[in-house]
Amino acid sequence: MSADTIALNQRMNRFDGQPQVWLFGYGSLIWKTEFPFIERRRATIRNWSRRFWQGSHDHRGTPDSPGRVLTLVPDHGSVCAGMGYLITPEVFDHLDHREKNGYLRHVVELRFDDHSVDNGLIYIADENNAAYLGPASDEEIARQIDRSTGPSGDNRDYLFHLADALRELGEVDVHVFAIERHLRGLHAA
Ligand code: SIN
Repeated sequence: MSADTIALNQRMNRFDGQPQVWLFGYGSLIWKTEFPFIERRRATIRNWSRRFWQGSHDHRGTPDSPGRVLTLVPDHGSVCAGMGYLITPEVFDHLDHREKNGYLRHVVELRFDDHSVDNGLIYIADENNAAYLGPASDEEIARQIDRSTGPSGDNRDYLFHLADALRELGEVDVHVFAIERHLRGLHAA
């Protein structure tokens, strides 16, 4: 699959004529909200876990020196907290462009803190996309993040903003926080 997923996502329009749809954000979409939304609520999804396994050629790295950003991997029984945004379908034009480097829209079930449940869309970059990097040790991931920068800024800012946003949500993400510790250690040394 090509690294540019804009056209694929436009063909996967799953709104069924709905005027509003939930978007679930688990990475930069938690804290970098330069898109319009009607409502924003903490939400969780089940059976997915965050991993810094996706390469970033366009935001936090370059094609020659990709950064590492988040995707989700199937993880039976796990709960992943993030942010739900109620948006109008037009906003997906912007989001498809922003998430074009390998992410595809999927349908997911969002659970809200008041125990209500609704379907929404989520962007996931799986192992079949050209920018996928896959697993590495927490330390290697931290080193790659530390040296990477791209049009949206330093890769380490992506990680630090994310870790802060997760703490605000009350989320303890072992993978993200371990990489954050390694990254801070590189500069403390
Ligand atoms: C997301 O935040 O939901 C997708 C991954 C990212 O843009 O960081």
